[in-house]
Amino acid sequence: MKGFVFSAPTAVVFGSGSVETVADHVGRLGCRHPLILTGPSIGSSPILDAVKRPLERAGVEYGVFCGVTPEPPAEILAEAVYRIRREGYDLLIGFGGGSTMDFTKIASVLSLRDLRIEDMAGNDRVPSKGLRTVMIPTTAGSGSEVSPVAVLSFPGEGMKRGIASRFLIPDTAIVDPSLTLDLPPQITANTGVDALIHGIESFLSVKANPLSQNLSLMACEHLSAHLARAVCFGRDLEAREGMSLGSLIAGLAFSMAGTAAVHALAYPLGGHFHVPHGAANAVLLLPVLRFNLSACRDRYARLAMAFGVAEPADSDRSAAAFLEVVGDLIRQAGVKTRLRDLGIPREAIPSMAEAAMREVRLLENNPRPVTKADAERLYSEAW
Ligand SMILES: [Fe+2]
Repeated sequence: MKGFVFSAPTAVVFGSGSVETVADHVGRLGCRHPLILTGPSIGSSPILDAVKRPLERAGVEYGVFCGVTPEPPAEILAEAVYRIRREGYDLLIGFGGGSTMDFTKIASVLSLRDLRIEDMAGNDRVPSKGLRTVMIPTTAGSGSEVSPVAVLSFPGEGMKRGIASRFLIPDTAIVDPSLTLDLPPQITANTGVDALIHGIESFLSVKANPLSQNLSLMACEHLSAHLARAVCFGRDLEAREGMSLGSLIAGLAFSMAGTAAVHALAYPLGGHFHVPHGAANAVLLLPVLRFNLSACRDRYARLAMAFGVAEPADSDRSAAAFLEVVGDLIRQAGVKTRLRDLGIPREAIPSMAEAAMREVRLLENNPRPVTKADAERLYSEAW
């Protein structure tokens, strides 16, 4: 067996109602003056009280920055950092979906050091840790609450790119599924499918190890069992708990094993056409899984069982059953399955393939090597 390193440095607090403990966790990190970072819609919604009230009850003086947008321009990041420095915050609370948590990670680093985000893109290029962070996700999808990754837009390159570093790993994740009860079906579906793909891709990644693979399988079990239910019955707390738990576990798995070609090919859709991350991943999932089949037959058989397929007679049949069950799940979730339905013109395929090939950080994890010609074929199949 190949040796491996297991590291899960984030303190995880999981459970409905756990957001009530936020002040304790700020104190436990030795901090007294947190800034809550969130987006404009949460900023003007009563859900923000879920974080504000426990801080107020504990007498913690906090600030709120509600300017985080999904693809934040550099000026918004600079504005947040300016406020953090000027008002002397000692901890950042990222309250929102993946983009908000990613923004919070980068703001934490920039609050202590003057750096250019372009210089940090890729693996291990963040020079040091930033302010302490507590992440409180309001979606079940990105896994950003425990991951070392932040994805940002690089407008000059027309591309979303990942910044991955152990210095971005949050100190504490408070995962409270009750915060996701009011998420609309489409966001539940897009973010849930993203989490599911984290489970699948981390399992198949060449960087996977026995521990990460078991986390991946456990994530797939929870997510596949609860996705359709959470989309159809948003107020079903048990379904929401299953999704939040699955998404968290998938986050731990891909923090070790990474994601692969689905994510690499999805990034240009976000960068060029502003397609939401989960929706972009969803259209590429089946083409990439079919492409990887020859390298992954046995692993698909193991995944099939995590997806609830009864143990079949041979791996060929169970690999086929896996592809079928994934296709059914994606359709049940109601996400789009064709690039053309996302408004992407066929002529964009060569430039998207070129952009995807720059995602070496992800492509090198894929169980089968992907050439530029393969990438074009995969986009054509998804079109
Ligand atoms: Fe993702």
